[in-house]
Parts: sequence; C-alpha cells; structure tokens
Amino acid sequence: MKAATSLAFAIALVGLAASAQAAGPTADIGTIARGKYVAVIGGCNDCHTPHYPESGGKVPESEWLAGAPVGFQGPWGTTYPANLRLLAQSMSETQWVARFRTEMRPPMPWFNLVAMSDADVRALYHYVRSLGAKGEPAPAYVPPGQAAKTPVIVFVPQNPPVAVKAAAK
Ligand code: HEC
Repeated sequence: MKAATSLAFAIALVGLAASAQAAGPTADIGTIARGKYVAVIGGCNDCHTPHYPESGGKVPESEWLAGAPVGFQGPWGTTYPANLRLLAQSMSETQWVARFRTEMRPPMPWFNLVAMSDADVRALYHYVRSLGAKGEPAPAYVPPGQAAKTPVIVFVPQNPPVAVKAAAK
C-alpha cells in the first residue's frame, strides 16, 4: 500500500515536471504578461509609441504601440514606426511570426526580431492583440530623394551640430 502510494506520488511528480516543460519556463506569468514583458524589454515602445522615451516610459499602456506619424529619415528614405495594434488585428499568428522573420528598413532593428524565439514572438502577438485596435496606420514609406509630408527625425550626423530647444513641459 505504502509502495503504491509513493509510486503514484512519483508518477504525479513526473507528470508535473513534464507539463511544466511542455508549457515552457514562461507559462507561470501567462502568455499575455510575457508578451508585455517582451515589448518593454525589447524596446518596441521606444519607437512605436510617441513620447515614450522622452517621458521615461510614462505613457499610459492604452496608448502603446499604435505607431508614429513622425518619420525617420536617412539614406534609406523615410520610414514610420508601424501601428502594431492594427497590424496584429489584421494578421493571423502565423503571418505575424513570418513578418518577424523578414528584413525591414532602418532604423527598425528587424535583426533583433529575427533573434527572438517563436514563443516570444507569439506571446507578443497575443499581448498586442489584447490591447485592441487603436489609431491610424502609420504613413507610407517614402523612398530616398522624395519629400516626406510629415515631420521627420533626421538620422544623418549634423555638422555643425544643430542646437535644439527644450520642449515646453
Ligand atoms: C529605432 C526605432 C524602432 C524600434 C526600437 C522598433 N521599431 Fe519596429 N519599426 C520601426 C520602423 C521605422 C518601422 C518601419 C520599417 C519599414 O518601413 O521597413 C518598423 C516596422 C516594424 C514592423 C513591420 C510592420 C509592418 O507594417 O509590416 C514590425 C512588425 C515591427 N516594427 C515590430 C517591432 C517590435 C516588435 C519592436 C520591439 C521588439 C520594434 N518594432 C522596435 C522602428 C522601430
């Protein structure tokens, strides 16, 4: 009887270990929470959420990742941080993963997305979808040599340096 009980206990333990392994080390905090964590430490808000870096990350979560209407201009032309919330709503999880595996234009650190595990990319998908649709799609890419119709941040070293006034608080 005693042997049978400890055998059952051992089997239960093995089962527990197996299910913890199958779910991965992140299952305890949940997929959506994991996606939020990846978004924050992945620095996605730094570009895809207006004013996030300047405010020290103090932009309400309801505003996160809806893209930016200010372009990044450089030798690649002018690019705009995409509205990831609309993107996630318009894509299946499989399409989202495939998009994360493709090259993008600067200064999007697409190579960091390529290095991200499938589990993290999927968690991010569920997190961004959980935020819901918000805002407009970001303006379209403008090729080099063509004028952008929006304000831009110029990614070219300025010589002599340009003095920029502090923003009014
Ligand atoms: C330095 C600024 C910057 C950072 C940081 C950044 N992005 Fe981007 N992202 C951009 C820009 C600019 C584009 C548009 C690139 C283009 O036009 O090819 C973009 C495009 C994308 C796209 C493609 C959108 C589409 O329409 O297909 C995805 C997906 C994306 N970013 C996800 C992320 C994620 C996830 C993170 C965080 C891990 C992140 N980005 C961090 C600037 C940034």
